[in-house]
Amino acid sequence: MKSIKVGLLGIGTVGSGTFNVLKRNQQEIAARAGRGIEITMVADLNVERARELTNGEVEVVSDANLVINNPDIDIVIELIGGYGIAKDLVLKAIANGKHVVTANKALIATHGNEIFKAAQEKGVIVAFEAAVAGGIPIIKALREGLTANRIEWIAGIINGTTNFILSEMRDKGLDFDVVLKEAQRLGYAEADPTFDIEGVDAAHKLTIMAAIAFGIPVQFAKAHVEGITSLQATDIRYAEQLGYRIKLLGIAKRTAAGVELRVHPTLVPASRLIANVEGAMNAVLVRGDAVGETLYYGKGAGSEPTASAVIADLVDITRLATADPEHRVPHLAFQPDAMTDIQILPM
Ligand code: NDP
Ligand code: HSE
Repeated sequence: MKSIKVGLLGIGTVGSGTFNVLKRNQQEIAARAGRGIEITMVADLNVERARELTNGEVEVVSDANLVINNPDIDIVIELIGGYGIAKDLVLKAIANGKHVVTANKALIATHGNEIFKAAQEKGVIVAFEAAVAGGIPIIKALREGLTANRIEWIAGIINGTTNFILSEMRDKGLDFDVVLKEAQRLGYAEADPTFDIEGVDAAHKLTIMAAIAFGIPVQFAKAHVEGITSLQATDIRYAEQLGYRIKLLGIAKRTAAGVELRVHPTLVPASRLIANVEGAMNAVLVRGDAVGETLYYGKGAGSEPTASAVIADLVDITRLATADPEHRVPHLAFQPDAMTDIQILPM
């Protein structure tokens, strides 16, 4: 069978990881997908660097529109980030009948409802496993593995940068700014790191998980968001002395009145598993009425861990692309008209 042709928008940290892993494991991936998956075109502002990263093996352009308008491209991967140009490109790609894979949690959390509606109307898939918790397949777990359950709550460390900062400040006594710079160097932080340290990135991810878990539209604006910028080294030290660790947690909880959606620093007893999640690792606890508590752990940021999730979506789409579009359930896990109007509680 002919291979699936993929166009990549943005070959930075995650884009380069995606290109490399797809190439390195191409045989296994093709066997799992049922056919080959091939990046044939890349768009990036820095054409020179993109050519180097792809060893001159694919067509490189600076204008992303050339990729989304190319009739030979079946799937577009959006790894540019932000919700300006990225939103425009994703909506245009959908309008052109392309399936879309994105790691862009900011985009999905703020414009997901519009994007999924457009995809549903066009009969294409928008997949976003990499948008939450990097390499951990948490979207798949919520959407498929736990599909029999009424989800009661989700609680997790879902931002690698802030967990890395808190760990390094505690273990090495390093200053906040020094560790943040290191997180940027390692490719964990967002282009605008205030999204990480102010809790916005974690709230984007929580919003997406809550939509899947509770069958509600994405509603980022209703989340309570508090980051780690007001924490001092002394807070971390005192917490330690009292037998606690400070973790930036994202918590989504079903109550009788509605859903609570909040991100804030939390004192976690040092004996708890989640208190011992260090560095850029992420961990997500999910409680379902049938299964009880489940825990998902892994690298929450970085080039190849995130690429792992991007490629999982490529494989999923390659398998599903042959299914009858009318019977596909969008990757948000609920048909839009079956979503509930459970309210997110003001905090
Ligand atoms: P990078 O900044 O490393 O990569 C983005 C790339 O897109 C850069 O090469 C940039 O070029 C290029 N670019 C910018 N504007 C355009 C444009 N108009 N057309 C074509 N290319 C463009 O970001 P990341 O790879 O870290 O992140 C990508 C996405 O993945 C973001 O949405 C992020 O939130 C998400 N993500 C990131 C993770 C991580 O660990 N880094 C983990 C999970 C998700 P230039 O450098 O020249 O500006
Ligand atoms: N900036 C994000 C983080 C990248 O630190 O978790 C992964 O989504």
